Amino acid sequence: MISPGATRVRLGALDDLPPREGRAVTVDGERIAVFRCDGGVRAVSNACPHAGGPLADGVVAGDTVTCPLHMRVVDLRTGDVSDCAGRVRVHDVVVEDGVIYLVRPEPGSEAHPA
Ligand code: FES
Repeated sequence: MISPGATRVRLGALDDLPPREGRAVTVDGERIAVFRCDGGVRAVSNACPHAGGPLADGVVAGDTVTCPLHMRVVDLRTGDVSDCAGRVRVHDVVVEDGVIYLVRPEPGSEAHPA
């Protein structure tokens, strides 16, 4: 459910994103990787926290993507990265009438790390 005040940004047609592939998009200056996984469409920041690898170019398996630079595995549901203390930012996505939308939270509603 989208919270009141949240906005949606159209990313493209679901049919244009083949299963188990990623696409890089830019929203409000942020590079985002969008994937069509076994569990649905997922979106995360398109920079691996290890050394900035382009996650959209990685290999998708289940709900994970393997970074093409050093092969660390990113969980696209949680943002956890194997063998790395950093995490990838996970974005909310909805698919409606065959269109993928990124859900942007209401300004000021995002949690910030302590
Ligand atoms: S940059 Fe992704 S594993 Fe090193």
